[in-house]
Amino acid sequence: MTSSNNWQRSHRLDSLGVDNVGTVVTLMGWVDTVRNLGKLVFIDLRDRWGITQIVFDPEIIDDFESLAKIREEWVLSVRGKVSKRLKVNPNLPSGDIEVIIDNYEVLARSAVLPFPISARNKLEASDTTRLRYRYLDLRRSTVKEAILKRCQLVRSFRQALESHDFLDIETPILYKSTPEGAREFIVPSRVQKHSYYALPQSPQLFKQLLMVAGFDRYYQVVKCFRDEDLRADRQPEFTQIDCEMSFVDQQQVLVTIEEVLHRTLELYDPNYVGKPFVRITYDEAIASYGTDKPDLRYDLKITQIDQLFANCSYQVFNNIIAEGGGIYSIVGRGCADKFSRKDFDNLTKDAQQAGAGGLAWIKIAGDNWQSPLKKFLSPEIKDQLRQGLSLTDGDVLLIAAGQQQQTCVALGVLRQQLAIKLDLIGNDNCWLWVTGFPLFGREDGSEKLITLHHPFTSPRPEDLSLLADQPLQVKALAHDLVLNGVEVAGGSIRIHDRDLQQRVFETLGLSKEQIDDKFSFLLEALSYGTPPHGGIAIGLDRLAMLLTGNSSIRDVIAFPKTHRGSCLMTGSPSALSDEILRGYHLTPLR
Ligand code: AMO
Repeated sequence: MTSSNNWQRSHRLDSLGVDNVGTVVTLMGWVDTVRNLGKLVFIDLRDRWGITQIVFDPEIIDDFESLAKIREEWVLSVRGKVSKRLKVNPNLPSGDIEVIIDNYEVLARSAVLPFPISARNKLEASDTTRLRYRYLDLRRSTVKEAILKRCQLVRSFRQALESHDFLDIETPILYKSTPEGAREFIVPSRVQKHSYYALPQSPQLFKQLLMVAGFDRYYQVVKCFRDEDLRADRQPEFTQIDCEMSFVDQQQVLVTIEEVLHRTLELYDPNYVGKPFVRITYDEAIASYGTDKPDLRYDLKITQIDQLFANCSYQVFNNIIAEGGGIYSIVGRGCADKFSRKDFDNLTKDAQQAGAGGLAWIKIAGDNWQSPLKKFLSPEIKDQLRQGLSLTDGDVLLIAAGQQQQTCVALGVLRQQLAIKLDLIGNDNCWLWVTGFPLFGREDGSEKLITLHHPFTSPRPEDLSLLADQPLQVKALAHDLVLNGVEVAGGSIRIHDRDLQQRVFETLGLSKEQIDDKFSFLLEALSYGTPPHGGIAIGLDRLAMLLTGNSSIRDVIAFPKTHRGSCLMTGSPSALSDEILRGYHLTPLR
């Protein structure tokens, strides 16, 4: 080993090939694997870009014995001559060469590793250990690839948005507490006693204020913070590609954002072939798929079949229809042999858990249909069902009756389970816009009105007369973008009229004082000439997760948190001393 030198790296570890044979190069990187064959030592040296095999030969290298100490993940600087490899490794970009080292330096040693890094070794580590040593986990090729793809996605977004005249403008992170939907993270002010900032759930109001300010077409790759229950597609801090445009209607927002997305995906993936995104309304989505974020990679559509049960003697169905409900069904084609009675019992339990009153099933087989409803299936009804649903032998019919929303939502859950069981999920990504959402809903278990998007979403102009007396009937100019059953973006046309914004706040039950306290700045701004405007926010983490084929957004976030919101590497959140707390005018509680 030589003493410290001032070598400069000459090549990346993916860049050498037969053209470089004979060249003297200086390489730097981590020891991925060491193979000490006694006579020769082979090391796979790894950097961000790739791996190059380097060879130490006792005839050439001075202190060959000390190579025995070298371990995985040590950092080396090496110099040597590129040579053609006798046995080409087709899996490496630099697989047809190796570098015969004449001099080297150990730049850093590594402690014993908690888990192996090299892709050659099987990973045996718990998620907890991987998160505790995330900087090591990030060295592993699969994890690294996901992060690199995310970088590529962000770069593509920026290029696409810039080429559509969007301006990148930053907005504050220390913000004001405003009821927007989720719970907020709060930051106490040291300088102003008993005053608090909130971290933004999204830059929603700032982007609207940028439209008031005249910065038509804004975007930002921005961190958002929400203190909500975490799951595979939710983190307490996540990133949005946030966009806003002026002088637009909903149609123009959808067209522009769709163009931006196609351009982004073309830049991200040279093989991308864009198809126009499907568009459906919220009502269609619920009626046909039982969810406002349907996965259209498979069919299994829900169909209302009241008519096909006309003149049926089954009183349960007749009563439900008399009470304003309906009969809804899903057809599984040619899969009858895949379902046992026990499977149907399990599906029934799942349907009930998801809100259905019950579940009936029919296996279609010649004249001998099997079903708990068998005795009610007259030849006439069988004919109606066969024709109405194009049934053939071997099909399975799942039927639930009840009020539309509740019953379809339950069938929507079964729909997903069936798609998995029957292996129906296609490979092509399926994008769709959902529009026509209700403006308001009810808070779970109460009569309180809440907005389904946020309180700045514009009602449809034709529904304004319903605002006072039938708010639940008002539709919003809101849009969600769904990819493979996951909501990847949400947005709307905003209220740009001060009085209407005030009315929506009042409809939500905010008092005059609450409106003044939380939103006087917005109402004031809306009174100074606000252009019509609208936009969208794309959930970058979710999109990156889907495009990289991962199942959790944690896989595409460099330093994610656990489901309890902890960072296992840094140990946050953590306690603060009483002295620090008092500095923020907070009383320590024990
Ligand atoms: P919304 O709340 O629908 O809209 O958020 C937009 C998108 O952000 C993603 N997302 C999340 N991703 C990871 N973890 C979370 N906790 C999380 N919450 C949301 C989703 C979602 O579709 N200001 C509005 C946008 C607008 O109206 O323009 C907003 O934030 O992919």
